[in-house]
Amino acid sequence: MASDPLTPYGNRPMVTPIVNAVNYEYLSFEVLRQITDGEIDGYTYHRDDNPTVREVEKKAARMESAEDCIVCTSGMAACTMVYFTYLRAGDHLIIFHDTYGANYKVSLILERLGVEITWLDADDANRIEGYFRGNTRMVFLETPTNPLCKIIDIAFICEKAHRIGAMVVVDNTFATPYHQNPLKLGADLVVHSATKALGGHNDLMAGAIAGLKEHYNKLWFTRQAIGTTLDAYSAFLLDRGLKTFDLRAEAMARGAETVAKFLVENSKISRVSYPGLSSHPNHTVAVRQMFRGFGNMLAFDVGENEEDAKRFIAALKTIRHAVSLGATESLICIPYLTTMLYLPPERRTSFGVKKNTVRLSVGIEPPERLEADLKQALLSLG
Ligand SMILES: Cc1ncc(COP(=O)(O)O)c(C=O)c1O
Repeated sequence: MASDPLTPYGNRPMVTPIVNAVNYEYLSFEVLRQITDGEIDGYTYHRDDNPTVREVEKKAARMESAEDCIVCTSGMAACTMVYFTYLRAGDHLIIFHDTYGANYKVSLILERLGVEITWLDADDANRIEGYFRGNTRMVFLETPTNPLCKIIDIAFICEKAHRIGAMVVVDNTFATPYHQNPLKLGADLVVHSATKALGGHNDLMAGAIAGLKEHYNKLWFTRQAIGTTLDAYSAFLLDRGLKTFDLRAEAMARGAETVAKFLVENSKISRVSYPGLSSHPNHTVAVRQMFRGFGNMLAFDVGENEEDAKRFIAALKTIRHAVSLGATESLICIPYLTTMLYLPPERRTSFGVKKNTVRLSVGIEPPERLEADLKQALLSLG
């Protein structure tokens, strides 16, 4: 019998092989039947499943203490798959304003399909019961929130939502599983833009949804139906990113803490929002639900207006002016002009974001280099 090219002489490759096959040859009609009837695990067609993708799904599930995880083409594909899998016409969705901007666009599609939507401010999270309706099926949140880094008490929301039979979905992209495991706090599903810290190198786009096996099965149905299966090469890159994830997350959190402490002392900067600062309005909740630090994301206001924020960003040398987050490089942007472009202008400033609010994703550079960069850029404000 010919040896398996992936395991010549029985040796196994050190890295997960990239299986680029779209389809697989059946060994026999009996094997075809066994696969179709679910008696054995087997690969047939890429839209259904792929071995490289499956490998990374198992790793991501372990990171979120989930029974299983489904990986897909982007963070927004993950969010959309969740909405499409669990919501139907006549259902009510509660979603927070400070979730990633593209959720607003998806909400327009959901409304067209008959889903009722209530947008909630993170500051109103404690009053969520007042927004419940008889048909509330899902609460969707991010914490720390995007972009203002507010903190929402996950256990509190889950307790209230579960009482009325609604599910809770937490986008854990900002916190990452290094600092927060929403499933352990009661959430039904965790969503990730794996494009961010899980991948970590600005070179892949992927999404992930983790939870119980029964959820995996439902979401698998959706993925297979609509074709949001990740390609094998991106899965390989994600798998490689996960190998250094803990190291990167630790370095990023230490850097963010240093930078946050530096920024609060500067007179040209105001409203520094970092959950690790004792001055953060929900610091005690962050301490309760996060661990090993508070992540790499922070938001702050620069000078007096948009022009000040632009001048400051243009003067930065180490920190790069770009969207996205969780990468090895520190990235900074003005949400009003970038990540929130999905929203109509009046909505962009309706829940606390200002035109001079900047969002900083701290990378793995030495914190003192970041501090020096911020210091010299602040001089540009006069
Ligand atoms: C918190 C969060 N969730 C979801 C997304 C969407 O992810 P993707 O760009 O991979 O579709 C983003 C993108 O920036 C994000 O920041």
